[in-house]
Amino acid sequence: TWTTGNVVEEQVAAIRAQVGDKRAICGLSGGVDSAVAAALVNKAIGDRLTCVYVDHGLMRKGETEQVEKDFVAATGVQLKVVDAQERFLDALKGVSDPEEKRKIIGREFIRVFEQAQAEIIAEAGEHGESVDFLVQGTLYPDVVESGGGTGTANIKSHHNVGGLPEDLQFALVEPLRKLFKDEVRMVGQELGLPEEIVQRQPFPGPGLGIRIVGEVTRDRLDLLREADAIAREELTAAGLDREIWQCPVVLLADVRSVGVQGDGRTYGHPIVLRPVSSEDAMTADWSRLPYDVLARISTRITNEVRDVNRVVLDCTSKPPGTIEWE
Ligand code: XMP
Repeated sequence: TWTTGNVVEEQVAAIRAQVGDKRAICGLSGGVDSAVAAALVNKAIGDRLTCVYVDHGLMRKGETEQVEKDFVAATGVQLKVVDAQERFLDALKGVSDPEEKRKIIGREFIRVFEQAQAEIIAEAGEHGESVDFLVQGTLYPDVVESGGGTGTANIKSHHNVGGLPEDLQFALVEPLRKLFKDEVRMVGQELGLPEEIVQRQPFPGPGLGIRIVGEVTRDRLDLLREADAIAREELTAAGLDREIWQCPVVLLADVRSVGVQGDGRTYGHPIVLRPVSSEDAMTADWSRLPYDVLARISTRITNEVRDVNRVVLDCTSKPPGTIEWE
C-alpha cells in the first residue's frame, strides 16, 4: 500500500544502499522538489550531504534569501551558496531559442556544481574523495515530458533531465523520480518540513530565464522580477495562493506595442499573466481569476514597472499550451 511513511522508509533505505558511506551534494532551487529530495537524503545520510544553492540571477525577488533562511532553519542541512549571476548571463548572451536556453542553463548548473564539488572536497579533507553523488528533485512528470519515461516525444528539456551534459561527473540520486507533485508535498509533510516550503507553488529550475521571450539580459530580468513580485503580492493578498497551481509572469521582450502613459506615447513591452490550475502539471486549465484582482495587477504593473505598457491574460489550457511559455 502507498503511504507517505512507506515511501520515506523505502527511499531512505534505497538512498543508503546507493550512496553507501560516500558523500553527496544536492542542488537546492528554492522549490518543493529539491527541498524534499534534500530532506530525504539528509534523513538517510545526515551530514554527508551538502546542499548547494546556485544563485543564477534568474530567481524571483527574495527567493535566495528565503532559501538561506527558511530551509536551513527547517532542516539544519549544510548549505553552500554560490553567486553565479555573471556566469549565467554571459552564457545566455545572444540566445533566444527556448531549448538552447534550457540546455545552457542545465549545463551551467552542472559546471557550477562541479566547482562547488571541488570546494566541498577540499573542505572535507580526508573524506573528500567520496563526494560522488548528485541529488536531484526530478519528478515523474519531468521524466515523462523530457522523453525519458515512456517513449513519448520530447516536449521540453527540463533542465534536470534532458539538459544534463553528457560528461556528467556524478552518479545521480533521484528519490522522487516516481512521484507526482501532490505526493511530493505529502512526503515533505511526513518529513516535517514547514508549510511555507511544502505548499510553495512550483517554479521552474531555469527560472525567469525561460519567462523572457527573447534574449535574457540583466535589465529585462530586473523588469520581470518587479512585475512578478507585484503579481505574487496581489494574488497572495487576494487569498488565491492555494487555489491556483502557479502563475508564471512572462515578459515578451521582443514584442512592443504602442501605449499612452502620462502625457505621452509609449512603445513598451507586454507582460503576460499565466495563472493555471492543475493537479500534476501534466494538464492544466487557465484560472478564472476575479476581474478585480486582474485589474489591480494590471494597474500596478503598468504604473510601477518601467517599459511595460500592457498586461495580457493567457487563457489557454494545457494542452494545447504548456504552462511555461518556453
Ligand atoms: P510545462 O511548461 O512543461 O511545465 O507545462 C510543467 C511544470 O513544470 C515546471 N517546469 C520546470 N520545472 N525545471 C523544473 O524544475 C524545468 O526545466 C521546468 N520547466 C517547466 C513548470 O513551471 C510547470 O510547473
